[in-house]
Amino acid sequence: MDHDVLTGDCLRILAEQPAASVDLAFADPPFNIGYEYDLYDDRRAREDYLEWTERWLAAVKRVLKPTGSFFVAIGDEYAAEHKVRLDALGFTMRNWIVWHYTFGVNCKKKFNRSHAHIFYYVADPNRFTFNPEPVRVPSARMTTYADRRANPVGKLPDDTWVLRPQESDAHFQTDADTWYVPRVCGTFKERGEHPCQMPEAVLERIIQVASNPGDLVLDPFAGSGTTLAAAKKLGRRCLGIELSEEYADGVRRRLQRIEFGEPARPVRRKPAVARAR
Ligand SMILES: C[S@@+](CC[C@H](N)C(=O)[O-])C[C@H]1O[C@@H](n2cnc3c(N)ncnc32)[C@H](O)[C@@H]1O
Repeated sequence: MDHDVLTGDCLRILAEQPAASVDLAFADPPFNIGYEYDLYDDRRAREDYLEWTERWLAAVKRVLKPTGSFFVAIGDEYAAEHKVRLDALGFTMRNWIVWHYTFGVNCKKKFNRSHAHIFYYVADPNRFTFNPEPVRVPSARMTTYADRRANPVGKLPDDTWVLRPQESDAHFQTDADTWYVPRVCGTFKERGEHPCQMPEAVLERIIQVASNPGDLVLDPFAGSGTTLAAAKKLGRRCLGIELSEEYADGVRRRLQRIEFGEPARPVRRKPAVARAR
């Protein structure tokens, strides 16, 4: 089973990959907001950043299978620009997911940022993988209203994903209709060296719903390797691309610690609301 991270520029490396070979792509590109990476300069001129965005989106499209799905995580500053470009490439949007989290940056003269956008696109609206069963959650009819009309197998999650660390030190809980997942804060056991590591739980949900075991999952901006770690745990093949040798080495070390198909994180039965501040 392949679980690989290649070091270098994703534009160059994607051009070397076979066309129509990837089942699921997840991209969490630099947001162009001045984040401190070791190599990449996250303060590019707007036009330069957008021209580059167009190029890597098209490069992902080339390697995606006609039945493939593409998820893009992006911040407020360039969300609209990414959507316009994804639409122009001929992708079809399935959901505009809002990932709500806390532990964002505290602001003094505006409201604190507490969300990111995750765009869920498919190449063909009539042919794509969507596995509802692994991500189904109990509905409010079941958990709150004891309504006999509730579908006993639960419902699909909402398109707002709530990640409040005050309410859980576990992740998406199977007995809640909203899944609670914290950002990966500095003190968390999951946290590695990378400055903007995503929680594995977000990637587990995406990979479970939009790919099948053995499928190839691509992350052109591997960072700390969250996508690859989740893919390996879930029995998918994965290819990551990362500009920084240091980060790519971190991904390799992270993958070595994971057994292929190892059980996902333990699930807590109740949100710890008593700990909310
Ligand atoms: C937002 S971070 C990704 C974080 C990742 N989702 C995680 O959970 O760890 C973006 C990453 O893209 C990398 N990067 C920037 N430009 C790149 C390029 N042209 N090709 C490949 N990687 C690049 C940066 O070094 C950084 O690690």
